[in-house]
Amino acid sequence: MRKVTLMDVYTHPVAQKYLNRSGKAHAIACAYHAFKLAVQAGINPDLAVKAALLHDIGHYEWYTAGGEWDYETYRRNDIHAIKGAERAHKLLIRLGEEPKAAKDIALAILLHTDSYLPEGDLHKDTLQQIVKKADEMDEEPGGHHHYRQIDESLAMKKITELDQKVQQALQPMKRSV
Ligand SMILES: [Fe+2]
Repeated sequence: MRKVTLMDVYTHPVAQKYLNRSGKAHAIACAYHAFKLAVQAGINPDLAVKAALLHDIGHYEWYTAGGEWDYETYRRNDIHAIKGAERAHKLLIRLGEEPKAAKDIALAILLHTDSYLPEGDLHKDTLQQIVKKADEMDEEPGGHHHYRQIDESLAMKKITELDQKVQQALQPMKRSV
């Protein structure tokens, strides 16, 4: 059994606050993409879905002006990946996540965008590449993916289903150890 489920993460008030800000529909869609990519790549889908769900929780309210995102301010001052990594790490540790798992998830969030990083090639591991790709797979022009809405009961259903998928995917992994 996992110590912390995706539902534990999703329903935490801290996650709810920031997921509402950056878009729940986008976060959940990314978590689904990340699950598929992780299974294909043969890496732990539990870490991938948690990192993808939380990848944008570092966004600030001051990016928005009158309810719409101010992309000028956002591009100039953005550190959402840094802030998100830190917020996710704190949240996961508080929920009782394994420290190494919390670190790996936080690092994947830190590196999910290179818009704020100095130029140059980083050697990203598979989890880090997957979270970046899952985000890109759900991106819409003009940042519209942040505004897409999802009904709360559907969101809960999707999180429950994804938890079940992760649990199933982890079974054969355990047996083969
Ligand atoms: Fe994103």
